[in-house]
Amino acid sequence: MNQVALITGGGGGIGGAVAHRMAAGGITVVIADYDGGAAERVKSEIAASGGKADALAIDVTVAREVKAVVTDVAKRYGRVDILANIAGGSGYTKRIEEFTWAQWKEVMDANLKGTFLMCREVAPIMQKQKSGRIINTASNYGVTGSALRTPYAAAKAGIITFTKSLALELAPDFVLANTVAPGPTDTPRVMEKESMEARKQRWWPQIPLGRTALPQDLAEMYYFLTTPESAAITGQTFHVNGGVVMP
Ligand SMILES: NC(=O)c1ccc[n+]([C@@H]2O[C@H](COP(=O)([O-])OP(=O)(O)OC[C@H]3O[C@@H](n4cnc5c(N)ncnc54)[C@H](O)[C@@H]3O)[C@@H](O)[C@H]2O)c1
Repeated sequence: MNQVALITGGGGGIGGAVAHRMAAGGITVVIADYDGGAAERVKSEIAASGGKADALAIDVTVAREVKAVVTDVAKRYGRVDILANIAGGSGYTKRIEEFTWAQWKEVMDANLKGTFLMCREVAPIMQKQKSGRIINTASNYGVTGSALRTPYAAAKAGIITFTKSLALELAPDFVLANTVAPGPTDTPRVMEKESMEARKQRWWPQIPLGRTALPQDLAEMYYFLTTPESAAITGQTFHVNGGVVMP
C-alpha cells in the first residue's frame, strides 16, 4: 500500500530535502507550507523525477487552517501514514530585554503551537488506523539553550518533551512519535545570512566531523523514521549535527 506523508515546511531547505527523499522511497508526499509557491516548486521537482506529490498552502499556527488541510488530505487519500512537522525557525537574535511579547509569541507559535495543532488533528486519524509515524523537528539549541535565541530554544525544548509525551499517549495504538534535532545545516535560508566561506570558518572547527550538515543528511534520518526498520523506536530525539552536541 502506498504510504501518504504530510510534510509541513516542505517548501523549505530541510523540508524540501525530506519531501524528495520520501518521494524517492515511494511515499506520496503532501507538501504543506506557508509559502505556497515554494511548496508548488518542490511538488513539480518531485513530479519531474517520477515521484508523487501534492502541494498546499497552510499557516500551521492557525487552528482552522490546520483542521481544513488535515481533513482535506485524509479525504483525498483516505489515510495519513506520516506527519513530519518541519515548519518553524526564528528570524530573531536579540537579548531577552529586547524581545517584545509579540515576538516571543510569534517564535513559540511557529515552532511549538504549529507542532501541537498538527499533531492534534492527525493523531486521531493515525490512532484509528492503528499505525502512524509522527516526526517533529527540534534543534540542538533545544538541549543546550542558545544566547540571543531564548524563545526559539524554549520552543524546541518544548517540542522534545511534547513528543515524548505524545509517544507515551499514542503507543497503545502503534503510533510512533520521534524528534529530529538538526544542528547547523546548510539550507538556503541560513546561507542567505552567512556565506559558505563564513560558515566554514565559524562552524567547521567546532564540529567533530569537520563540516556542517546538508539538508540531505537530515532527510535520511526523517526517512529512516518512516520505515519498518524503525518500528521499535518511539519517544526518541535524534541529533544530526556532526557531533557538535552529544546530549
Ligand atoms: N537550518 C538549520 O541550521 C536548522 C538547525 C536546527 C533546526 N532547524 C529547524 O529545521 C526546520 C527547517 O529549517 P530550514 O533551515 O529548512 O528552514 P527554512 O526556512 O528553509 O524552512 C522552513 C519552512 O517552514 C515554512 N514555515 C514557517 N512558518 C510556517 C508556518 N507558520 N506555517 C507553515 N509553514 C511555515 C517556511 O515557509 C519555510 O518553507 C525548522 O523547524 C528549523 O527550526 C534548522
